[in-house]
Amino acid sequence: MIKPHGSDALNPLYVYDDAARNALITEAASLPSITVNSATAANAVMLGGGYFNPLTGFMNLADSMAVSENLHTTPGLFFPVPVVNRVEDASGMAVGSRIALLDPNVEGNPAIAVMHVEGIEKASQEQIDAMTQQVYGTMDSNHPGVATFQAAGNIFLSGPIQVLSFSYFQADFPETFRTAVEIREEIAANGWEKVVAFQTRNPMHRAHEELCRIAMDAVNADGCVIHMLLGKLKAGDIPADVRDASIRKMAELYFPPNSTLITGYGFDMLYAGPREAVLHALFRQNMGTTHLIVGRDHAGVGDYYGAFDAQTIFDEKVPEGSMEIEIFKADHTAYSKKLDKVVMMRDAPDHAKEDFVLLSGTKVREMLGQGVALPEEFARPEVAKILMDYYQALDAS
Ligand code: ADX
Repeated sequence: MIKPHGSDALNPLYVYDDAARNALITEAASLPSITVNSATAANAVMLGGGYFNPLTGFMNLADSMAVSENLHTTPGLFFPVPVVNRVEDASGMAVGSRIALLDPNVEGNPAIAVMHVEGIEKASQEQIDAMTQQVYGTMDSNHPGVATFQAAGNIFLSGPIQVLSFSYFQADFPETFRTAVEIREEIAANGWEKVVAFQTRNPMHRAHEELCRIAMDAVNADGCVIHMLLGKLKAGDIPADVRDASIRKMAELYFPPNSTLITGYGFDMLYAGPREAVLHALFRQNMGTTHLIVGRDHAGVGDYYGAFDAQTIFDEKVPEGSMEIEIFKADHTAYSKKLDKVVMMRDAPDHAKEDFVLLSGTKVREMLGQGVALPEEFARPEVAKILMDYYQALDAS
């Protein structure tokens, strides 16, 4: 099986031993504590599940700056985005001490992790701005990722953590939430060797569905792990439970049995386009998939990134040998009126523009928002029904 990033074996930071975890939960109650922001809690969930292997905790300021600038930590580990715990106020925290990190997303704010504080560093606004520009490629505060990054506290608490829970994800999405450890186990149990990962934050419309099929055929894959984001999104995006239901329906009806795993991960969307695509590849390697599909405007928002920037970054900014996972670079996928099926445009060179119906998640959301029925070229009827029901319930409320 493909090795995790940066180490021979996966090192999830969740404390799996019940007695040890319960002892830490007891200890956490008497430690100085801080309620972290949602991005930090999501980072803890990803560290806990092994997705951010081989990190052992939150990066310090120097590593955060180095990673933002050139995708490597100061000791030289390849990593595409800073993984940080940023707070506004660190009073009562001391270097060398242990603290409890409290979960902002679960009622009662239980401890999500215990952290050994190695660094408490205040970043200047110039440093925050530099990281924002490097990671997001823009400083525009209308960009939802930029707004979140700029709003976080400027004190970086760094050091190793032990993770005590998977936040609300396990309780809210018991069928779907999976750690990298679990996905590796499921891939091994299925006996799959070549495995395509599909990242999504949308219900799967026809373009998404066909991309999975096209990529599986192209790399001769044994299976496809559909891996949806279950964390926070920007306003207007479709909530995780609705996406989950529609993706399950699509896979059940339109893919051969046992060819897909329908899974999800607990992370807030960054909307960092190319940088997020590299992060996506890294954590798909950690969960044991050999290929990641990267298509048009992957992890993008608005017009901030070129349609294929999330592909070219792998040639321009990711040095050979940095990761083992391979990228399936998908072309714009569209419905061909001539062929009566969804194709990648590069595979239909004889087509003119008007021979295609262009498909996109944004377009689908717009149509649903206006109460327009989704045509079959866009979505499977069973998927369209789930989405229409959701939008009608929204209108009625
Ligand atoms: S994302 O933010 O998670 O990337 P989305 O769920 O819409 O958004 O896309 C999932 C994957 O499908 C991404 O790799 C994206 O590039 C790809 N994709 C979505 N629609 C198309 C399309 N029409 N043509 C090509 N690739 C697409």
